[in-house]
Amino acid sequence: MWILGHRGASKAAPENTLAAFALAMAQQAHGIEIDTYQVDGKIVVIHDRWLNRTTNGDGMVTSHSLDYLRSLDAGHGERIPLMQEVFDTLPHDALLNIEIKHLSNIESWIADVKSGLRISGFPQQNLIISSFNHRWLRSIKHAWPEVKIGALTATYPENGLGFADDLSAYSLHMALDVVDEGYVTEAKQAGLKVLVYTVDHPQDMKMLKSWDVDGIFTNVPDIARDVLA
Ligand code: G3P
Ligand code: MG
Repeated sequence: MWILGHRGASKAAPENTLAAFALAMAQQAHGIEIDTYQVDGKIVVIHDRWLNRTTNGDGMVTSHSLDYLRSLDAGHGERIPLMQEVFDTLPHDALLNIEIKHLSNIESWIADVKSGLRISGFPQQNLIISSFNHRWLRSIKHAWPEVKIGALTATYPENGLGFADDLSAYSLHMALDVVDEGYVTEAKQAGLKVLVYTVDHPQDMKMLKSWDVDGIFTNVPDIARDVLA
């Protein structure tokens, strides 16, 4: 079962920072999940719409310049990372899930990700793009058919696996609160990988492993490694 550091190893290091990503890999995670916004045409890594919880800045992420965002402290002296820095520093055998919280232009977003892959050499097959905004995912898949899409949902979809099918998804990313064993089995039979968030409790880790879930997003990759060993 894949262990993906949710916002990096975000229990022990400031979330969505290069330090948290490096720590996740040091804790032997198989990869990481990051949250992203597009600002001034560049993709930056941060979870909230507002800067206040995770940085020393103020106001909305999208109402500031890239220069301002990059001047902030995102915890322990870490900066808000550029997505390019993640591509440049993540080991090439790691899995990278880019969750889109916001984008301003689909074409330039795709161009930025593609150029990031090219410059860094990070393999496209290790990349999964997800979002709660399925309209964006649909447009991305249409413009970039070979990219892996993660159908992300916080609810138990009424139409079963229909939404993942519509997105030609590679994987289903489901909330721990709503996932059940029958749905996991159904998704796996349909050829989808099943990833569950956010899984920090050892008992949940063991339960999902017994369901044959393909991966978990966890804030504590070190605990997951021990529990799942
Ligand atoms: O991508 C899985 C998970 O990160 C989605 O929820 O709010 O933690 O980004 P959130
Ligand atoms: Mg996320």
